[in-house]
Amino acid sequence: MDQDYTTFSNQIKKHTGIDLSLYKEAQMKRRLIALREKKGYDSFSDFYDAMKDNNTLLDEFLDRMTINVSEFFRNPTRWEVLEKEMLPRLLSDRKSLNVWSAACSTGEEPYTLAMLLRKAIQLKDFSIFATDIDELALKRAKLGYYLERSLKDVPEDMKAKYFEKDGIGYKVEDILKEKITFAKHNMLADPFKSEFDLIVCRNVMIYFTEDAKAELYRKFSTALRPGGILFVGSTEQIFNPKQFGLESVATFFYVKK
Ligand SMILES: C[S@@+](CC[C@H](N)C(=O)[O-])C[C@H]1O[C@@H](n2cnc3c(N)ncnc32)[C@H](O)[C@@H]1O
Repeated sequence: MDQDYTTFSNQIKKHTGIDLSLYKEAQMKRRLIALREKKGYDSFSDFYDAMKDNNTLLDEFLDRMTINVSEFFRNPTRWEVLEKEMLPRLLSDRKSLNVWSAACSTGEEPYTLAMLLRKAIQLKDFSIFATDIDELALKRAKLGYYLERSLKDVPEDMKAKYFEKDGIGYKVEDILKEKITFAKHNMLADPFKSEFDLIVCRNVMIYFTEDAKAELYRKFSTALRPGGILFVGSTEQIFNPKQFGLESVATFFYVKK
């Protein structure tokens, strides 16, 4: 790391609790330099000085470092595997599920989970803990208002059942919201809850360093009950899952031993 960026990274950690050194450096630096230059600062040191007393700029920084892109049923064939293979497996010995959607962004992922879980007839009850580091994304998730295009992969019957047309978009029905608890959580710093049956953590690991990823897999494994399942993103296969007490049960799905 160059000294200017290292110092900036330390200052940001003190100020926000976010440790930039756990994110892949080249990628993160590229994004932050683009923002810094757009704002007219020549160095990270000047950029931090401006940011520390300017919450709008700090919010813009947070918005740039977190990439909030999400979709309902992102990679639909994977959700089909969850529905047809993983849920029956989880429900073979229990009737209620405790689920965590980690890095849930603007809510499409936990709402997708809620739709599928409501459809599982053997299931008596469930709760979804949905977390992200980005408060703005969480606000939008709680609001549950989406434009037509982000609903493109929602099956028609579910769209009719769980979304209500409102102006130029759709709002999520309360019946989906009521099983979800949204909360701010930094996976790289905050403690994890435990005894989850299912953890969904997709399309965020790609931003982290190898060391940070390994530490997270260990912590996810500890947070799952034996037999619980970790569902990862479609470019995020775990290399050697056994070292974390996990075993691959389908592509992108791992069971806790
Ligand atoms: C590309 S989105 C993925 C959303 C969703 N999981 C999906 O697959 O569609 C990545 C999310 O990770 C969040 N994120 C980044 N670093 C995080 C951290 N340390 N702890 C929790 N969330 C984080 C960002 O705020 C962003 O909302």
